[in-house]
Amino acid sequence: MNQMEVSFSASLDNENFARTTVGAFLTPLNPTIDEIIEFKTIVAEGVSNAIIHGYNHNPECMVVMKVQIEDRQVKLIIQDYGKGIENLDQVKTPFYTTAKDLEHAGMGMTIIETLADSLEIESVVNIGTKLIITKRLKDNG
Ligand SMILES: Nc1ncnc2c1ncn2[C@@H]1O[C@H](COP(=O)(O)OP(=O)(O)OP(=O)(O)O)[C@@H](O)[C@H]1O
Ligand SMILES: [Mg+2]
Repeated sequence: MNQMEVSFSASLDNENFARTTVGAFLTPLNPTIDEIIEFKTIVAEGVSNAIIHGYNHNPECMVVMKVQIEDRQVKLIIQDYGKGIENLDQVKTPFYTTAKDLEHAGMGMTIIETLADSLEIESVVNIGTKLIITKRLKDNG
């Protein structure tokens, strides 16, 4: 098992840091370009949800991100201690969003679920939200 953990302020300025960090951590496993793009997209969606919905862009709050690798099985955990999700049964539904502005299509969770092998969401209102995402890298290393 090889693992890492980082935490960073809930600012969208840190979204690229999160994406790049996961990409760099996976690099020794020799992933394909497509796999890297998929992981970075998953990270971007999960982390932006934590920052925007979980923490309402409050940079005093911290997003925690962990990656655990066993053989080529990757587990990615994205966690916030923010608002939590009320309608947990609906968040994976395409186009479901609580953000009324046009910027949010309600596709983030659907994208994560499509690109990953599995997506588990644990969330408690006013306690926070934890995404547990698994995705296996193809055997090309
Ligand atoms: N970390 C979180 N904390 C609180 N609520 C969340 C969190 N992540 C998702 N949600 C809720 O789940 C809804 C669906 O999330 P999803 O990422 O699918 O869509 P979106 O963020 O609204 O739009 P998009 O991702 O397309 O910009 C959000 O609108 C929000 O209500
Ligand atoms: Mg989203």
